Parts: sequence; structure tokens; C-alpha cells
Amino acid sequence: MERTTPQDDVLVVTGASSGIGAACARRASDAGYRVVLAARREERLRALVDDLGLDQDRALVRTCDVASWEDQTALVDAALERFGRIDAVVANAGVSAQMGLLESTPQHWQQMVLTNVLGTALTVRATLPHLLEREFGHYVLVSSMAARRPVPARSTARRRRPSAASPTPYAPSWCRSGRSPGSTSPCSSSGRSRPR
Ligand SMILES: NC(=O)c1ccc[n+]([C@@H]2O[C@H](COP(=O)([O-])OP(=O)(O)OC[C@H]3O[C@@H](n4cnc5c(N)ncnc54)[C@H](OP(=O)(O)O)[C@@H]3O)[C@@H](O)[C@H]2O)c1
Repeated sequence: MERTTPQDDVLVVTGASSGIGAACARRASDAGYRVVLAARREERLRALVDDLGLDQDRALVRTCDVASWEDQTALVDAALERFGRIDAVVANAGVSAQMGLLESTPQHWQQMVLTNVLGTALTVRATLPHLLEREFGHYVLVSSMAARRPVPARSTARRRRPSAASPTPYAPSWCRSGRSPGSTSPCSSSGRSRPR
């Protein structure tokens, strides 16, 4: 029988050490997901796991700089070794420069592009072979309204990754879902049976 709750599904969250990523991990854990928490600040990830009261059967902490292909592949390897599968991925890690074009520096822009654009693409590239193999999976790419609309005095925000409203360039048709990101329902959207 098809499951109707995400109990035991495995969710990978990048940028889980604060803000939206940490909140996402908290909601997912409350909803029954096992969580793989990735970011550069390991102590923040461990504090979150402690706060959520999760043991190693429910949570994996992994330091990962999303701009590093080695870190990303090691993250996927560790997730599969611990849990045996990945059901959904939240590519959330990102940085922003809260300033205008002339106040920010080329170093800011480089970090932003490497984290927000390359990092998001590497997260998808590292996880997609596993999702394709299982013919099941779901991506949430966190972006910014600034990627869709110019914001006065925030010129650098336009350097963000493409909008999360259009993630399909990275995802095959069976990865698409009409469900809202807040949904706790199973991620399958194509009518295919969920793999065990
Ligand atoms: N909050 C907003 O209003 C807003 C608006 C538009 C877009 N966003 C986007 O939403 C996402 C989350 O933002 P937030 O507000 O929650 O910001 P945040 O609290 O600063 O969180 C950013 C997260 O990204 C991680 N991160 C940054 N660089 C990383 C890297 N190279 N490798 C791995 N992890 C990295 C950080 O962890 P470590 O430092 O520990 O690595 C942190 O966990 C970002 O992509 C941001 O651009 C947010």
C-alpha cells in the first residue's frame, strides 16, 4: 500500500545551520523525515540536532561547502551510507550582499555566484543520479524574489541563482511536482509508485 506520510523519508537540506534551512529541517523532522543537515558550521548543525532531540537514526550532520564538488559528493555518499536513500533535497545554501553594486566587491560577487549558482547546480548534480536510479525524488531550490524582479540599491541580488519557480532545467519530468513546498504529503507527482 502506498504511504501517505513522509515517515522515514530522507530529506537533505543544504544551508541547514541557520535561517530558512534550519527552519526547514525542523519542520521536516517534526513531520517524520529523517534529515541530512549540511553547512560549513558543524557546531551549529550539531546544536540543531540536539535541540530537535534526534539521534543518529534520524539525523546526519555533515560539513559541506556547496561550492566544493568533493564536499557535495561526500555528502551524498554519507547520506546513502547512513540511510540508504535520498527522497528529497532542499538546495537552500546561499549568501547575499545587502548592498548596491558599488558598495559590494568582486569578492562578494564571486562568493555569491560560487555558492548560490554553482553550489545549487552541484547539489542537483551530486544527488540526481541517485534519484534517477530510484525514479523518484523531489527538489526544492530556494531562491529570491530579487532573481525575478530588480530591487533598487540591491543590484548584486540579481546575481542570484535562477528562480526557484523554474527548477525544471535540472529535473526530469518525473521530478516535477505541483505540491507546495510546505506540503507534508509524499513527493511523488507522476503517479509512479514510491520505491521502498
Ligand atoms: N531570508 C530572506 O529574506 C531571503 C530572501 C531571499 C533569498 N533568501 C535565500 O534563502 C536562503 C536561506 O537564507 P537565510 O535567510 O536563511 O540565510 P542564512 O540564515 O544566512 O542561512 C544561509 C545558510 O547557507 C549556508 N551557507 C552559506 N554559504 C554556504 C556554503 N558555501 N556552503 C554551504 N552552506 C553555506 C549557511 O551555513 P554556513 O555558514 O554554516 O555554511 C547558512 O546555513 C539563501 O539561499 C538566501 O539567499 C533568503
